[in-house]
Amino acid sequence: VKILFLVKLGGSVITDKTRTCAFKREVVDRLASELSYANMKGVLVTGAGSFGHILAKKYKLNEGLTTCNLEQVYGLARVQRDVRLLNLKVCNVLLKHNLSPVSLPPSAMVRCNKGKITSLDLTIFKDYLDLGTIPVTFGDVVLDAARGFCICSGDLMMEEISRVFKFDCAIFVTDVDGVFDADPKVCRSAKLIEEIEVDTKIENLVREENLFGDKKKARNDVTGKMFGKLKSALKIASYGTDVYIINGLVDGRLKALLCGKKVVCTKIKAKVKERGKREKEVEKIT
Ligand code: IPE
Repeated sequence: VKILFLVKLGGSVITDKTRTCAFKREVVDRLASELSYANMKGVLVTGAGSFGHILAKKYKLNEGLTTCNLEQVYGLARVQRDVRLLNLKVCNVLLKHNLSPVSLPPSAMVRCNKGKITSLDLTIFKDYLDLGTIPVTFGDVVLDAARGFCICSGDLMMEEISRVFKFDCAIFVTDVDGVFDADPKVCRSAKLIEEIEVDTKIENLVREENLFGDKKKARNDVTGKMFGKLKSALKIASYGTDVYIINGLVDGRLKALLCGKKVVCTKIKAKVKERGKREKEVEKIT
């Protein structure tokens, strides 16, 4: 049986986060060749990076619809256009590597309430997977019952998809080697944490202020950097899927991990009991 992956290509890997809409074509090209080499089967999620966060912050999209709403609505339209553009750029590169991506925009499929997903037809993902394509979704701006709209991050999509479907492994491709006990970009003595148990309290691993890293960069990031990522990863692990946080800027790491090799990374170990239970559930469905 082929291994089923759920992979998020983070915005900091596929874009230059400091410049608006700067696509890192070479990095994406290499990552696509690694996915293609491993003949990756599964679902992909792309982050927004500088195609999303900069304007989302400018128009305060993470606050939902506020009083100066007309301008915000214009901002929503711009950000939706930009993240879709980024997603299609990634799909373009994947196609060049003979993969078959199918772009699935959350803005047209997801409803939220207070930032939480309340409806999403995940059978669409499953059916596209069964066809042999790679469903590719992304961080987006979506409808929200209480707030008008909200940001639905790629991480939130990862959580929702893995809550419902069983993947063998979820991978967050980032611009750092994994989770450190301090910010590696600021603190030289920061140590990589290689394994994290699913029940771990984040506060016990890392001092919170260290997780947000470079303040200047964090200011353009409306979804909270590694702290939020780790929270998502722990949730996915609690649903029964092993999670890996890896560095996508290092040549060959994604490929090696997809091929079952040991790589430098942080692994968040799944709740085993949950995994067994879910396997039974999946058997029932199929
Ligand atoms: C954010 O998506 C979406 C918007 C800002 C519209 P993500 O939170 O998944 O993006 P990255 O990976 O952090 O850039």
